[in-house]
Amino acid sequence: MQSEVRVSSHEPIDYISKNIYGHFAEHLGRCIYGGLWVGDDDRVETEDGLRMDTVSLLRGLNMPVLRWPGGCFADDYHWEDGIGPRDERPRRRNLWWTQGRENVPEESNEFGTDEFLRLCQLLDTDPYIAVNVGSSTPQEALDWIEYCNYGGDTELADRRRENGQEEPYGVKYWGIGNENWGCGGRFAPDEYADEYRRFANYFNGFDKLMNEESTEFIACGHLTDDWNEVFFDSLNGGMEYGPGSFLGMGSPFNLMDHFSVHRYYQAGGDTDFTDEQYYKIFARAQKVGGDIDRAAETISQYVPEGEIGIIVDEWGVWHPEARSDNGLEQENTVRDALTTAGVLDLIHARADVVSMANIAQLVNVLQCLVQTDEEAAWRTPTYHVFDLYENHIGQTALETSVDTENRTIEGEDHDVPMVSASASEGDGELFVTASNRRHDEPESLTVDVGSSSYSVSTATVLFEGNDIREYSTKENAESFEASPLDVTDEGDGTVTFDAPPASVVGLTLTE
Ligand code: AHR
Repeated sequence: MQSEVRVSSHEPIDYISKNIYGHFAEHLGRCIYGGLWVGDDDRVETEDGLRMDTVSLLRGLNMPVLRWPGGCFADDYHWEDGIGPRDERPRRRNLWWTQGRENVPEESNEFGTDEFLRLCQLLDTDPYIAVNVGSSTPQEALDWIEYCNYGGDTELADRRRENGQEEPYGVKYWGIGNENWGCGGRFAPDEYADEYRRFANYFNGFDKLMNEESTEFIACGHLTDDWNEVFFDSLNGGMEYGPGSFLGMGSPFNLMDHFSVHRYYQAGGDTDFTDEQYYKIFARAQKVGGDIDRAAETISQYVPEGEIGIIVDEWGVWHPEARSDNGLEQENTVRDALTTAGVLDLIHARADVVSMANIAQLVNVLQCLVQTDEEAAWRTPTYHVFDLYENHIGQTALETSVDTENRTIEGEDHDVPMVSASASEGDGELFVTASNRRHDEPESLTVDVGSSSYSVSTATVLFEGNDIREYSTKENAESFEASPLDVTDEGDGTVTFDAPPASVVGLTLTE
């Protein structure tokens, strides 16, 4: 079959924020304990208790940002439990992700704030901390930011120094709760608006005290417009704000830098799915595009464009096999990786409004990028998509249209295009990613970048020869690595090639 990808180099969408390639690590199953942190276990090489085989694979991703400690875990977490000498830290139960398990894993608090921030230093990634709104207070959150970011001579800043970190960590991103309509407190939208205003007010006060605006605050939204609209409507708390009004404070909208949405999808099982379900999951993943559009529409009713960014704060495949009682583990297949490519294409198309996206989750849990056992760590197929797509970071997204067959899926809102693509440009380089979703035949693809001044410098393909149901194991992990692809540069701004069945292609063109 034949498809055409047309890139409009004169129609820039916006700069692609590096944070779109962000990640999420929750105290859940084997994500932190076992996956990232092994403490004194000497079966793998460690640095300060962090397992270096995982760290070294993650370094390959040049991760821009990492969200922690949850997820639902965050709204039942008290950060002071996780600082100071490890053998004095209290064991606690956390309410989430332990239900239905015979041996309820309690929280040892071995991995806390300093361990997380050490991990971020090793990965050269920006930390993003979600504070507890549901079962805690603005005071606890304010103390946390002071512990992390205050450079003066206070008890909390001194505790950080005693715990080994002289200089403030400078944590920039602060999430005000997580899914506060659900596990994060079951707030009605107007109640969460009250909580948001209260917490953000103190964070903002701290920013002013520091005489800098180096921190950014994130509200956790819902997937329904109704909930989000009531939340935004209520944020003013019935007050008229504005310059000079109400003790000189500005609108509470100034207390929000980002607004987040979460989206998971599934169709059939992780490895056990029909052909129809194979395509269905793409239709479901495409909902991320609608989520972004609707959130942008809601935000635009309240603030000028660009003032509040949208964060796709949790996204990815969540198969029925990933349950609370197995720590949300599932097999990670080529099909999953292909859905990732499609979602990243959609996010590029909305680079004008999306400020960050964090796939769930980093290690061992849900659509992870790295898996581990007691002795080794290896990459999943999804890792390779992130690795390939990394070339888009820091470039400007370009309008891209795809002329391809659209498959209708019964009961779904979206048709599934057989080819998904996106493109970006920067510093004399144009980068195009295109996936062929057809799993049973190659696609004859023409990519037209509309300018004969570009010629192909590299062409790479992922998953050539892999089956859509193949999943990563310690033994086969190398079989998902990228390989070179034969393409024909027609010399007039078009490139033609055969994209193998169920594959992802990356083309770099230079001027
Ligand atoms: O990522 C797993 C869970 O999914 C998170 O804890 C929660 O925020 C969401 O429901």
